[in-house]
Amino acid sequence: MNKEVIFDQIFTKLNGYSISDEAKTNHKGSVEDILYGEVSLDTLKQILNDVNKPLKGIFYDLGSGTGKAIIAAHLLNNFQKYVGVELLKGLYDESLEVLNEYKKLSEQNCDNIVFENDDFLNTDLHDGGFILINHPTVDRNIFKKLEQKMKKELKTNTIIITTIRQLEDKCFQELWSKKYKFSWGDSTIYVHKKNPV
Ligand SMILES: C[S@@+](CC[C@H](N)C(=O)[O-])C[C@H]1O[C@@H](n2cnc3c(N)ncnc32)[C@H](O)[C@@H]1O
Repeated sequence: MNKEVIFDQIFTKLNGYSISDEAKTNHKGSVEDILYGEVSLDTLKQILNDVNKPLKGIFYDLGSGTGKAIIAAHLLNNFQKYVGVELLKGLYDESLEVLNEYKKLSEQNCDNIVFENDDFLNTDLHDGGFILINHPTVDRNIFKKLEQKMKKELKTNTIIITTIRQLEDKCFQELWSKKYKFSWGDSTIYVHKKNPV
């Protein structure tokens, strides 16, 4: 089965927006700043091609939703490991279902895919090689905390991709930015490289 067929078979029937809405009603903490939206296989393929650097190490999706970006990255690349971190339990549970279905359809080894149900501010990022942050929140303070955490933990040369909002600290060098299509419309992504602090 080709990549597009596998991806569509898993995700066409899922409505991540309504799963997110329901998951928010069951979440104990504050949810008003948490956003939902999705990247497509085609958009992630374009982004990874445009990055034009060796894509290696551990791929993190911080705010992994139903697992779309993780499954797309696994279909497209040869990262060593894929880690999706999602705060909302309902979305995390759905990503486990997605992984089970993917394991049945994929001919590749899927043992290197992991989903975690946690706040990404608790995730140890020391081993990260490629970090995707696809607009998880409107809360600028959380974004700032995540930036400080990445400044402390990430290795030099780690690639960090953010949507809509750039990283501000000087240790994150912006390599380029470009508009791509997302489930909510066109948005700019910013590609950064971590420089020595
Ligand atoms: C815009 S969606 C992106 C989903 C997926 N990464 C994609 O690109 O298709 C952002 C996700 O981040 C999650 N999120 C928001 N704040 C979070 C936090 N502090 N820790 C972990 N996940 C979070 C949201 O619940 C949502 O699923």
